[in-house]
Amino acid sequence: MSTGHNVPEAREECRAPSPDSLLPMPVPVTRVRRETADVATIELTPASAFAFVPGQFNMLYMFGLGEVAISLSGDPAGDHRIVHTVRAVGAVSQAITRLRRNDVIGMRGPYGSCWPVAESEGSDIVIVAGGLGLAPLRPVIYRVLAHRERYGRVAVLYGARGPAEILYRRELEAWRRRLDVDITVTVDHAAADWRGNVGVVPALIPRTPIDPDHVIAMVCGPEIMMRFAIDALQQRGLALDRIFVSMERNMKCAIGLCGHCQFGPTFVCRDGPVFRFDRIAPFFNIREI
Ligand SMILES: Cc1cc2nc3c(=O)[nH]c(=O)nc-3n(C[C@H](O)[C@H](O)[C@H](O)COP(=O)(O)OP(=O)(O)OC[C@H]3O[C@@H](n4cnc5c(N)ncnc54)[C@H](O)[C@@H]3O)c2cc1C
Ligand code: FES
Repeated sequence: MSTGHNVPEAREECRAPSPDSLLPMPVPVTRVRRETADVATIELTPASAFAFVPGQFNMLYMFGLGEVAISLSGDPAGDHRIVHTVRAVGAVSQAITRLRRNDVIGMRGPYGSCWPVAESEGSDIVIVAGGLGLAPLRPVIYRVLAHRERYGRVAVLYGARGPAEILYRRELEAWRRRLDVDITVTVDHAAADWRGNVGVVPALIPRTPIDPDHVIAMVCGPEIMMRFAIDALQQRGLALDRIFVSMERNMKCAIGLCGHCQFGPTFVCRDGPVFRFDRIAPFFNIREI
């Protein structure tokens, strides 16, 4: 379903990887913050300036172990620290979460397309994040809140498995205290002392005020969660070209050469990770081809 309106695409200029950047550059770790039992946020401070747009990712290289794609989760207007939030799922990501201050990691990037933050000015925004999916959307929240007057209603719907898995707790609390953004957090399961919402994040969509003709939705999380969220947004009347998603596929080169991240006729590293949903809807259920 398409509105036929002039709905933003992920911008062209954030899709242009530099082909000469295959060599990781060594960067010192300047801060490590433990978010949950298996998630850490690391800050890197490169020698030279680093710029990115919300939605992009870096390739992080643990010397002798391997390289993984990790989204940029910091403030795009911040100082030149580079922020990544990593969940330990395998050898490389586990090693990254064990880094300490003054350790050195290899990094190349930024790569990939971006969320349509600038193009959504004048629209309402609904951000739907599940689990670690909040990390690539956090730069959107920073950017939108820094230019709050340029947007209509802004809602952030965030779901975690349990209270102990909630990321960026202090920031969520600070954003919740603002009167100009609606922050709703839910958890899949909780003990009796949890006073917040219980249930999966797509279940928040039917009770969120949404004007389907004036909203842009940005969705990131496990694919099953994104599928239910997209269904719920469609039931609220959103056309598919008003919904943006960020996809994950295995990556090697990250510059459109090796084909590891193929997704339908697209490569996630080169054409994504952020896609306007109507562009990829036919391939969304296919895990690998
Ligand atoms: C564009 C992009 C952005 C990403 N951003 C982030 C990010 O901000 N933070 C982050 O932590 N990860 C992110 N990832 C996922 C990350 O790249 C993988 O988790 C990582 O490659 C795993 O590598 P590994 O060597 O540690 O584990 P592997 O040895 O490759 O995997 C170990 C086990 O974990 C499973 N696994 C692999 N990836 C995941 C996953 N994403 N979720 C659950 N299980 C998984 C594998 O199937 C395997 O069973 C991103 C991926 C992409 C493509
Ligand atoms: S990772 Fe090599 S083409 Fe995308």
